[in-house]
Amino acid sequence: MITVSLLGAGNRGLDTYATIAQQEFDDVKFLCCIDEDPERLSQFQKRFGVSNESLYKSTDEFFLRPKQSDLLIIATQDTTHYELAKKALNKGYDLILEKPVALDVKELLELEELSNKLGRTVIVCHVLRYHKMWQMIKKIVDEGKLGKIITISHHENIGHYHYAHSYARGSWRKKETSGPLVLTKSSHDIDLLYYLVGSRVKRVASFGSLSYFHSENAPIGHGERCESCAVKKDCRYEGERMYTSFGGFYPLFTKNKYTRKAVREGLRSTDYGRCIYTMDHNVVDHQSSILEFENGVCATFNLNAFTRKMHRFIKVMCEYGEIIADERKIEVSTFDLQPLIKGFLKHILHLDRKIIKRIRLYKPWDVSKYFGHGGADRLFVKSAFESYRAKKESITPISQSVHSHVVALALEEARITGKTILIEEFIEYCSKNKTYRE
Ligand SMILES: NC(=O)c1ccc[n+]([C@@H]2O[C@H](COP(=O)([O-])OP(=O)(O)OC[C@H]3O[C@@H](n4cnc5c(N)ncnc54)[C@H](O)[C@@H]3O)[C@@H](O)[C@H]2O)c1
Repeated sequence: MITVSLLGAGNRGLDTYATIAQQEFDDVKFLCCIDEDPERLSQFQKRFGVSNESLYKSTDEFFLRPKQSDLLIIATQDTTHYELAKKALNKGYDLILEKPVALDVKELLELEELSNKLGRTVIVCHVLRYHKMWQMIKKIVDEGKLGKIITISHHENIGHYHYAHSYARGSWRKKETSGPLVLTKSSHDIDLLYYLVGSRVKRVASFGSLSYFHSENAPIGHGERCESCAVKKDCRYEGERMYTSFGGFYPLFTKNKYTRKAVREGLRSTDYGRCIYTMDHNVVDHQSSILEFENGVCATFNLNAFTRKMHRFIKVMCEYGEIIADERKIEVSTFDLQPLIKGFLKHILHLDRKIIKRIRLYKPWDVSKYFGHGGADRLFVKSAFESYRAKKESITPISQSVHSHVVALALEEARITGKTILIEEFIEYCSKNKTYRE
């Protein structure tokens, strides 16, 4: 039996991790819940049938009590993770910890050191490492048939409407209250590159800005809120259109009530009904980065809001072949085929390569299988609890996440200063100072 407490019963904590664990395991028992929002506590209580004494409105109240369970899941918002994780480790909990682990290099290193010193397990929610596509690419790379990786080109396509929801109007819109976009959105991507390459990053350069979603691009006659906007019928980010049209974005602000009335009420009272062009957000809407790893591999990484779809796309170029993948399919080809047709024709007909594998990850109608980060949320929960039960290291231990987080922060530093940043120097500087230069 594994006993668990849940700190932060929101979209990730309750609706994702606890729900999946309850569906997948009979021997995982949720005992306590801590959340500032009484509605979320009551939803947890209904789902897990615990007594009122097992519900806590404040973390102070919870940490005053003796250790309540083997594991604690921390799924509150970004700025709280460091303090809460530190308290929990000192209290004796092993952790399932949401990313970002912390927002500052010093704090990241401190948490890693503390968990090592106390011998605690910390499984970081880098769920994409568990995704079918990334596991398959990792296996193909490690098999070595394509030789060593030389370069990687990776794209994180945020999706323009997802950017509008989360990064212009939502919780991750300000660097000061959640961290830079390259950390909050892309610590996953940096982590995946680190996982595939299997070597630490040596140096980085990065460029990008908030180029479009600001007041200079607001349509003439726009209002402060969509409700009262004179030009809303021509705006693709108008609230009701975004959240109630077929295929629209999930109205997470309505707390699990998906009626048109609940959406209208939510749009009236929350930031999700404010004009996207005059929001107070300051995170970039595009960022292009270059990473050189210690083993010589180079990678380019494009983070971009201006895409129709929300998906990741990668090309891994190796000594004897290449892997191209886009979350729906993986194509692996080698360069070694004897030419069937000579000359230019062979080249334009693509006969100078041999496709050795074409894997369709999902059929278009398998919607339920790719729900929740392409199915990765479920695979993560299953693997995390299984490794914990077997006392084996997880696929996403804190030691690896800390490096990807540090690299993400170095990318932001490189973007701001316009300099190439050496990771070791950056770590040394930040371990004595704050992560960002004033
Ligand atoms: N791993 C991933 O792929 C992934 C995806 C999305 C979000 N996230 C991260 O997960 C975390 C949670 O995101 P979410 O979308 O579930 O947020 P959310 O707002 O839906 O949930 C957070 C919950 O924590 C509670 N809370 C916040 N501070 C608290 C405190 N000090 N004490 C007690 N309760 C507190 C809130 O009331 C809320 O119910 C964030 O850090 C986010 O960046 C990770």
